[in-house]
Amino acid sequence: MRRRTVWALLAVLCVLLAGCGLRGAGQAGGSDTYVLRFSHVVTAKTPKGKAAQRFEEIVEQRSGGRIAVEIYPNSELFGDEDELQALQSGAVQMLAPASAKFTTIAPELQVLDLPFLFRDVEDIPRVASPDTAVGRAIFGNPELARRDIVVLELWDNGLKQLSSNTRMTAAEDLAGLRFRIQPSDVLRAQFAAWGAQSTPLAFAEVYNALQQGLIDGQENPWSNIESQNMHTVQRYITESDHGYVGYVLTINRPFFEGLPPDLQQVVREAATESAHYNREVAAQLNEEAKKTIAEAGTTEIVQLTPEQRAAFEASVVPKVWDEQADVIGRDVVDELLAQRRAGGA
Ligand code: LMR
Repeated sequence: MRRRTVWALLAVLCVLLAGCGLRGAGQAGGSDTYVLRFSHVVTAKTPKGKAAQRFEEIVEQRSGGRIAVEIYPNSELFGDEDELQALQSGAVQMLAPASAKFTTIAPELQVLDLPFLFRDVEDIPRVASPDTAVGRAIFGNPELARRDIVVLELWDNGLKQLSSNTRMTAAEDLAGLRFRIQPSDVLRAQFAAWGAQSTPLAFAEVYNALQQGLIDGQENPWSNIESQNMHTVQRYITESDHGYVGYVLTINRPFFEGLPPDLQQVVREAATESAHYNREVAAQLNEEAKKTIAEAGTTEIVQLTPEQRAAFEASVVPKVWDEQADVIGRDVVDELLAQRRAGGA
């Protein structure tokens, strides 16, 4: 049995025995202790992995040990295919999936997958804070609320780069290649506009699929590429900065509302402070990962001229944005296009 399956079975057993993460039930209200399991799919050294560790430190310290946070990185416990189900059933209490992973339950979150939504990482807080059209689509999402999923924060990884075994400086270079995507209609439309094929695959499967030649390429920020060793099986990475990977930090509502108010406050503070920390370190971690890849000598990093990048952008904006407006919300897309025309995002 795979290690991850064993962990998953153990977690389910824990839930059955402990009752939604509550330890010591029956003790006086203020002394109850809780276990908060937090599962994610990347390694501990990535922007999400580091933010999760910071969240753990803050919660354990400020709760005086009343909440024990257990982090399960790298798809050890649950992966892309089962983590959202695990959150809803209470087998884990927290997740931070990339927004694209919510496509089937909350398709509006694909707004964050729109190609060239952000010009650079500095744009992210301005375009995606809770009071913007994008932020409202995430933080006020009725489908997540209906499933008892509370959105605490948005964490970033950063901008995506394109990797494959073909040198890519123009959309035509991607024609006929097979790319792994996260399960998102927007990402499928983006690669279709470039004449490429796309296959949704769980993150944990990407390295093997590249290595075995089942797919030709993929898109991810540097930190995800390097920490999964994808570069070792990809000859070229084009620094395209064409898309974004952001994480929706979520908590199971019955667990959250079952915490006493002071501990709910601790969780909220830790979510916000770890989001600040995540923004501080994400760009730096991606730079370091890029340097590691460059030094590995396995992969050529291809820089685009401003004209080449503009041509990539023109091939999908506004075409893909307009095509996906029914899914994302015409009002949201119109607001984003207006901002862009006004020289904003
Ligand atoms: C991916 O599936 O490509 C990434 O979203 C994984 C992650 O969580 O960063």
